[in-house]
Amino acid sequence: MVSGSGVFVFDSSGKDYIDAVSALFCATLGFHNERLIEAATRQMRELPVYPTALNRTVPVVHALADALSAAAPIPDAHVLFATTGSEAIETLIKTTWYINKQRNPKRHKIITRRGSYHGSTIFATRLGGIESIINSFDLTGDDILYAAQPRWPRDALAGETEEDYAHRLALELAELIDHTGAENIAAFLCEPVSIAGGMYPAPKGYFEAIRNVLSMRDIPLYFDEIVTGFGRTGKMWGSQTVNQT
Ligand SMILES: Cc1ncc(COP(=O)(O)O)c(C=O)c1O
Repeated sequence: MVSGSGVFVFDSSGKDYIDAVSALFCATLGFHNERLIEAATRQMRELPVYPTALNRTVPVVHALADALSAAAPIPDAHVLFATTGSEAIETLIKTTWYINKQRNPKRHKIITRRGSYHGSTIFATRLGGIESIINSFDLTGDDILYAAQPRWPRDALAGETEEDYAHRLALELAELIDHTGAENIAAFLCEPVSIAGGMYPAPKGYFEAIRNVLSMRDIPLYFDEIVTGFGRTGKMWGSQTVNQT
């Protein structure tokens, strides 16, 4: 591919394609977006790089953090910038462990869903429960537990309704947590719509049922919005599309 414009990309022979996945889910504003080019060029001239640490910041970084905080479905949301999705997810878990170390050091294990993808670094690979990749590198450890990936209707039992299926997965999650001890679990991490897991929207009642299981045990539910955020499911956040904010 040599160039792009709006939703189209063009290959070296000039053939055009609609890029339905926006590069890898990240060209949300389209290709050759003049406002983006102009803003990036202006900033490259003014101050191309500077750390936001040690009590310093840069006006555009500050303004973006404010805008993201206002757009986030979390009251008084704090913003921490990362370069990649893998780094963002790892930082989320690191921050959770940091807080728990002060308040509740036993709460260390993270639950994710089999077949998900949360990134390419060693820990993010393990968080994503894609067995073939984990085994290729022998990425072992006992700090992650894997719950079922909801794949309705593919994985339903004969005669099971959509609601029954969602309810069964929630019961299985409750058993996994109770077997391990809720006091050892720091968080449950999932995508609003699992991308690598097969792009199956969650079955009806699934998020309500698992949220109930988690909140009864005081376990936070984290959404990885690396793909589903910024309008990609029709609302600003995928968690809003699945009615979880
Ligand atoms: C749901 C999800 N989380 C995290 C990541 C990791 O993002 P990155 O490739 O920017 O590290 C991806 C990448 O595709 C992803 O799909």
